[in-house]
Amino acid sequence: MTQILESTLFGLLDPIYGPGAPAQTARYQTALEAFARRYGPGPVHLFRAPGRVNLIGEHTDYNHGFVLPAALDKDILLLARPRPGHRVRLSNIEPLFEDAEFELGESIPPAPRGHWSNYLRGAAQMVAAQAATPPPGLDILVAGTAPAGVPRGAGLSSSSALVVAMAVALAHLAGWQPERASLAHRCADAEWYVGTRGGIMDHFAALLSRRDHALFLDCRADAQGSYHTRHIPFPATHRLVVVDSGLHHDNVRGEYNRRVAACRAGVGLLRRSLPDITHLRDVQNIPWADLAGQLPEVATPADLARQGIDLGEIPGLDAQEPLRVAACCRHVWTENARVLQTLDALAANDIAQAGRLLHEAHASARDDYAISTPELDFLVSTAETVDGVAGARLTGAGWGGCVVVLVAQEAVGTLQTQLAAAYAAHTGRTPAIFLCQAGPGAGPVASLSV
Ligand code: GLA
Repeated sequence: MTQILESTLFGLLDPIYGPGAPAQTARYQTALEAFARRYGPGPVHLFRAPGRVNLIGEHTDYNHGFVLPAALDKDILLLARPRPGHRVRLSNIEPLFEDAEFELGESIPPAPRGHWSNYLRGAAQMVAAQAATPPPGLDILVAGTAPAGVPRGAGLSSSSALVVAMAVALAHLAGWQPERASLAHRCADAEWYVGTRGGIMDHFAALLSRRDHALFLDCRADAQGSYHTRHIPFPATHRLVVVDSGLHHDNVRGEYNRRVAACRAGVGLLRRSLPDITHLRDVQNIPWADLAGQLPEVATPADLARQGIDLGEIPGLDAQEPLRVAACCRHVWTENARVLQTLDALAANDIAQAGRLLHEAHASARDDYAISTPELDFLVSTAETVDGVAGARLTGAGWGGCVVVLVAQEAVGTLQTQLAAAYAAHTGRTPAIFLCQAGPGAGPVASLSV
């Protein structure tokens, strides 16, 4: 690796990371060196896809509702070199993730459940099916390591970033140029390959974000299949601070799928009086009081099946385990309203109101959707005692991971110190705390030689 390469790299990274570029240069160097060690000298294409933090709008995306995420400057790098044939060889800079190989095609067999390569297989299968020209075989190195990478298991969407990085790389190398929104949608479908019925928020955030902006997304496509998005500038006086509790639940996938099921159950029951609805979004303009009476507190999938309610195919659902139908639907209904109110508050620069909405969103996620943990509750309530904090909430799927705090610029330091000390005293753990430097969406970074 020469000095010239280092300055070239800096020139490439400055538009992406701004003030963070110098810190990224070493990381890119390390990844390029690791690629050359693994696959030998020659050309290499560099791609990146960011993680995201969600300001507000949790578990609304798969209900065709509203979300307001922002891409982080923490991302996954994917280095790729075309090779003859259709074989893809995968390597990861983190030794924890073993090498893997597969043949590119429209039907790629999965590795065992939980294997990291499944995220890339899902994306590869999707691009192979969609691109007019098949993508080439590739030698790939993935470098997603924290702190500059996306922390894993922290609810910041490292897995969707992996899917998106692979899709962006293969599409680029196959000469396929889909619209970003259409690629985001396809990436979300491609992630179903790993067995979670997730929504579209993470892939849209990874692909459509803009530096220093959040991304408002209406998760319902219009009649032409287009999605409405809007880039929302961050308030100049405040920052978003992300605090990682360092803990996450083992069965996030199972719990997540149960929430999806509870929402579908709600739609199924409401269809008795509103036969045209397909998603909870469709009842957003009906007063909650008119809906509540039609929804039971709890119902098991077996009860629902007896009533002719079809939950669709949801992996791992236990027919006897009760779903909290009314509370889950109420969360989605109130959360959609809060996202729209947050847009208004930000447009009016009413940060106190935006903060209150974050606070209410946390309470709803905790009490109605039941996705919080004692540690997340502690972080939120402690953050909200710090002067200058407008509001805080858990962010991401829940069951651990991170909280996001909206805080006045001048109070960031105090917040970090006080929160770290209080969390350490309470749990014995040091939380990772960082500023959300909203970065641009995924894409090719450069083609170089190593
Ligand atoms: C996960 C999913 C997203 C979204 C959030 C909850 O991150 O991948 O699609 O549903 O949970 O808001």
